[in-house]
Amino acid sequence: MCGIVGYTGTRQAYPIILKGLKRLEYRGYDSSGVALLNDGKLNVYKKKGKVAELEEAMIGKNTDAHIGIGHTRWATHGEPSDRNAHPHLSANGKLSMIHNGIIENYALIKQDLVNKGYHFTSDTDTEVLLNFIEDIQKNNDDCKLEEALRIALKRVSGAYCILLIEQDNPDTIIAARKGSPLVIGIGKGEHFLASDASPIIEYTKEVVYVNDYELAIVKPDELILKNLGNEKITPYITKLDMELAAIEKGGYDHFMIKEIFEQPNTIFDCLRGRLYAKEGNIKMSGVDDNIDQLLNAQRIMIVACGTSWHAGLVAEYIIEELCRIPVEVEYASEFRYRNPIVNKGDVIIAISQSGETADTLVALEKAKENGAFIFGVVNAVGSSIARISNAGAYTHAGPEIGVASTKAFTGQLAVLMMVALDIAKHKGTITTERYLKLLLELEQVPEKVNSILKNAADIKSIAEKYKDASDFLFLGRGYNFPIALEGALKLKEISYIHAEGYPAAEMKHGPIALVDENLPVVFIATHDPYHEKIMSNMQEIKARKGKVISIITEGDLFSKSLSNDYFEIPMADELIAPLLTVVPLQLLSYYVGTAKGIDVDKPRNLAKSVTVE
Ligand code: AGP
Repeated sequence: MCGIVGYTGTRQAYPIILKGLKRLEYRGYDSSGVALLNDGKLNVYKKKGKVAELEEAMIGKNTDAHIGIGHTRWATHGEPSDRNAHPHLSANGKLSMIHNGIIENYALIKQDLVNKGYHFTSDTDTEVLLNFIEDIQKNNDDCKLEEALRIALKRVSGAYCILLIEQDNPDTIIAARKGSPLVIGIGKGEHFLASDASPIIEYTKEVVYVNDYELAIVKPDELILKNLGNEKITPYITKLDMELAAIEKGGYDHFMIKEIFEQPNTIFDCLRGRLYAKEGNIKMSGVDDNIDQLLNAQRIMIVACGTSWHAGLVAEYIIEELCRIPVEVEYASEFRYRNPIVNKGDVIIAISQSGETADTLVALEKAKENGAFIFGVVNAVGSSIARISNAGAYTHAGPEIGVASTKAFTGQLAVLMMVALDIAKHKGTITTERYLKLLLELEQVPEKVNSILKNAADIKSIAEKYKDASDFLFLGRGYNFPIALEGALKLKEISYIHAEGYPAAEMKHGPIALVDENLPVVFIATHDPYHEKIMSNMQEIKARKGKVISIITEGDLFSKSLSNDYFEIPMADELIAPLLTVVPLQLLSYYVGTAKGIDVDKPRNLAKSVTVE
């Protein structure tokens, strides 16, 4: 996810763009830049780091311009750097473009352009699209930029929102979108363009939301909307009724709930380009290019902290089940100090949303010194842990602003499931039937998460009923045991209520002494080989007057009869279930925290990334 801003009109463009980029930093902040058209010349300024660093670098520069485009980046292709920052310039220097999205077939297009003699200054898919457009213009007589863009967009696959300006057309911005948002603000003799309305709302409340496959030609006093078939479309102007703060959160009250609701899309983005369920295939270059290293591993160690450590526990069960390779999961903070035995050839999977967690980073540095192979599962492209890894796979969850990790966690699970499946397929430790079944199940996850989110109000009711409890227990078995731990952590960090997660069978070894009529016990009791056992555990709690709250598979009447409250989720294979069972627990923590008036995006004592010991 990146932030884009454009302006054309009578005012100075640069201050508007800069302020707009700051409003959009929640969408990405690893680099930023502006392209300004002044005196018939295109000037591009860009810088790694936050917008404030761009602002600093711009001091003394000629920013006099009435048209410009700006971008704040969340890297997907090409690590954060000045050269990979947007805007990009085309080879002939006459076009400049910013882009939010992913061009999936950029590699093929790039190869073709390189064969034609094009040189590239960045590693981005955006620069490829820009030079593709230039090349189309060059090879078609009198081809206007708008037409060249239309031709190009019909040949690319993926998602995009792009703003394009050209030196020879000094008052026009051309925009197009498919899959990434674009809003155009209607002013008097001026137009504003942005990823959402937050950079626009202080200038005008009249906006046009551009739809997929639409293209806009924007001048100071004219807005033309067309489809890719070059047919004009009447712009539908709506009046903004949201306040600025709400817009940044996409209309949600908090980033946390916004990010919980983003999960169908973020899981889809994580699977995209890797999972080919219909063809019965998984393509993960980080695995495929290092398959010998992974197949020859005597054991796999997983090193992480917090929620990422819980993802590691799920991965342990999955990898051992599918790949038959011994797995050990280590808290990074323990691993780094206890002088662990790490041998050359050992594989370490490092899991981290931020890619900057100090304990995890130092643990990896030590392991690497001992000859371990590091496979990074990271969300922040180009982060320290990503860079220290020998290989890896990004979770593509986009910036996670809420301190509690939600969409990054399900992104980690999706990546780890695909990694395990890919290794098992190469190793021959999974039957074709089970492999294909799991691929199809994975493909269905975004839709199943969507169906869970549609019933969020049911979780909200449960949350309001139990928000005053002083303790919670979370119990699960098998693949859902780590999810019990994750549910407990979410509740602790968001509502400040003491909560513990346990393997359900562990209750009889002491914790059951805690059970009385004031103790809510959350069971993850979906249909799996442990179901009979976990229902016995539910009965043990009920017999001691504990309050049973259960996450169950749709239609499980018997579990319902054992529950004081329940929440039904779609049927799923036990190995896939954690991607679904965690969602109601995320919602539970959110609704309990908000019912208690807590700032759930910034809970007390916590930081989004623990970059210190
Ligand atoms: C999770 O909700 C917490 N914010 C925290 O446990 C987090 O998972 C942990 O600090 C690890 O962070 P990382 O994934 O960025 O390495």
